[in-house]
Amino acid sequence: MTRIAVIGCGYVGAVSAACFAELGHEVDCVDTDPDRIALLRSGRSPIHEPGLEPLIQKGIQGRRLHFLDEYPDQFEAKIVFIAVNTPESSEGAADIRWVRDAVSSVAARLGPGSIIVNKSTVPIGTGELVAGMAGRAGRGPVSVVSNPEFLREGSAVRDFMQPDRVVLGSDDPQAIERVASLYAPLEPVIQRTDIRTAEMIKYASNAFLATKISFINEIASICEALGADVAEVAHGMGMDVRIGGQFLKAGLGWGGSCFPKDVKALAHMAAIHGAHPQLLRSVMEINSDQRLRAVAKLRGALGELEGQRVAILGAAFKANTDDTRQSPALELAQLLLLEGASVAIYDPVVPAARLNHLVPMATVAGSVEEAAKDATAVVVATDWPEFIHMDLARLGEGMARRVLVDGRNVLDPLAVRAAGFDYRCVGRPGAEGPALAPALEGVHA
Ligand SMILES: NC(=O)c1ccc[n+]([C@@H]2O[C@H](COP(=O)([O-])OP(=O)(O)OC[C@H]3O[C@@H](n4cnc5c(N)ncnc54)[C@H](O)[C@@H]3O)[C@@H](O)[C@H]2O)c1
Repeated sequence: MTRIAVIGCGYVGAVSAACFAELGHEVDCVDTDPDRIALLRSGRSPIHEPGLEPLIQKGIQGRRLHFLDEYPDQFEAKIVFIAVNTPESSEGAADIRWVRDAVSSVAARLGPGSIIVNKSTVPIGTGELVAGMAGRAGRGPVSVVSNPEFLREGSAVRDFMQPDRVVLGSDDPQAIERVASLYAPLEPVIQRTDIRTAEMIKYASNAFLATKISFINEIASICEALGADVAEVAHGMGMDVRIGGQFLKAGLGWGGSCFPKDVKALAHMAAIHGAHPQLLRSVMEINSDQRLRAVAKLRGALGELEGQRVAILGAAFKANTDDTRQSPALELAQLLLLEGASVAIYDPVVPAARLNHLVPMATVAGSVEEAAKDATAVVVATDWPEFIHMDLARLGEGMARRVLVDGRNVLDPLAVRAAGFDYRCVGRPGAEGPALAPALEGVHA
């Protein structure tokens, strides 16, 4: 057992802390948000993340998990993880203000021989900056390790407990081994590298995944123009082990708290160091076009959007999370409001109060049927199972017009059309409406 500290109790910090406690370590978690700490102390998770709350409760009961809303005078822990937010700045760079604050608070409270571990996604070179700050705090030699986090919201606990790899970057091999030993019960594959490379692995991984999605979205547009089915194309491509099937799903595009800011930050870093990130720029452009294409599909089905009532199913950026940061669903809602449509939003887990705050002009509904009542169109914006299996006949009953835009390509086109809907999707035959490919024609005769 090792005593460690985790700074920041958000998606990454809370999951890492609870999982490290589950592995037998004693974990002090510090967050400057007192409400968040109060919630955690009571055994509740501040985020919707499957499996997290039981681990938090177990950690508290076993006295291995301690939540603090202030920094202690001195850390007992010798290994301190930084897991604070690094949002996008107005220029597109990662804003590391919170990392600086956390490191200056930590560095003043560490004993010699301690290790600061960067789990936040930070620009290349931040490890050296952190080492400089720790050195200036004058508390004796402190090592810095970069340990980027790859968990996915919605399966974060499983991803932490069964990592594909653990990346550890440092110029201090002993510090790497001390951090590696924390993960030993998981028997992970560990990549040991220098600190800049570790920082870059995180950005390159996210940029590649975003590129895969933008790639298949571009192929979807070409499929629409040429009459091919992108779902089948992706399936055929994905069976090739060199390509792999994941992240090849056409739809409204990527969002969330990581891809948008990380792709932008990487492009920014590249540009200010004289590289030309043309691919990254195209990846971002294709992604924002996907939201506009959904508006165009609605316009194709409904005509002018002024005065139309559109129900948006799902508000988070994907299923199994309540994270609405840079959510395609909410961006689409804003675009429709700008066009003069009225918008009703339903999400199974995002609190109504947050939606009212984020999209004050929209109505927040308590169910699929309530959102769809009197709507002229419904958009499936998040791939929650609840939407994939919804009762289409019941859905259509309360609607003023039966138009359904499947922004995630998760519904069966034949079933939706058989239920009397004008069905539009992304890159599949008839994506733009009733002009069906030959294989589907008979169904609607
Ligand atoms: N969310 C993800 O899926 C994910 C995955 C991999 C990596 N990351 C990266 O991990 C980092 C954290 O992301 P997140 O989504 O967990 O952020 P978050 O916004 O959910 O949580 C950050 C927490 O840090 C706290 N905080 C800020 N400054 C602090 C300080 N000085 N001292 C103590 N606490 C402080 C905030 O109050 C907040 O609770 C980011 O760099 C992000 O890019 C996120």
